[in-house]
Amino acid sequence: MDPEPAAAAAKPPSESRTSLVHWMSILDANSAGMVHGGTIMKMADEAAGLTAVKHCHRRVVTASVDRMVFRSPVHIGELVTFSAQVNAAWNTSMELGVRVEAENPITGDVRHTSTAYITMVALDEHGRPTPVPGLILADASEQRRQREDELRRRNRLAERDQIRGAREQAEG
Ligand SMILES: CC(C)(COP(=O)(O)OP(=O)(O)OC[C@H]1O[C@@H](n2cnc3c(N)ncnc32)[C@H](O)[C@@H]1OP(=O)(O)O)[C@@H](O)C(=O)NCCC(=O)NCCS
Repeated sequence: MDPEPAAAAAKPPSESRTSLVHWMSILDANSAGMVHGGTIMKMADEAAGLTAVKHCHRRVVTASVDRMVFRSPVHIGELVTFSAQVNAAWNTSMELGVRVEAENPITGDVRHTSTAYITMVALDEHGRPTPVPGLILADASEQRRQREDELRRRNRLAERDQIRGAREQAEG
């Protein structure tokens, strides 16, 4: 069997932080005339994926999206910024936090409309999960984000294991 590959040296979240900006048009609208939630989710996933790739310099896949809360609607004509950063790096997975802000370009008013927590897994050239670099946490807010992800990670993996266990039991 191949030896486990070593991850590259740890790095701070600031090295991979990424922002995507999109001016919402009629093509992004739902039937109610507001921006489609799926458009926001797709762009949040793209910002998270790009950030994860910049952190580990590998191909990545989305393993899970923990939560996406829509605090207020986004309107056509608003400029939306998706700011992503690595909250925590585990063995082969990373949690990315994505903050979504909408700006009305006429008034200059900026609103925090959503936050998403997305887990990405790095893959090697055979498509298998492979180790990612650790994180160097520079300040209290980065340490808080990692602590909060520890809690979310425990919950999401426990839920996955409970569901697997229940299915195995049901199948005898
Ligand atoms: C994500 C994936 C690579 C995990 O594969 P796996 O066989 O479960 O691999 P492992 O058990 O070795 O887990 C690999 C990592 O994924 C994490 N993981 C697995 N299931 C997870 C879940 N439900 N939520 C969050 N993380 C998860 C594990 O914790 C592990 O991370 P760690 O090494 O940092 O602890 C695999 O399920 C996959 O390829 N899924 C499809 C991904 C995809 O196509 N995404 C796009 C959807 S359109």
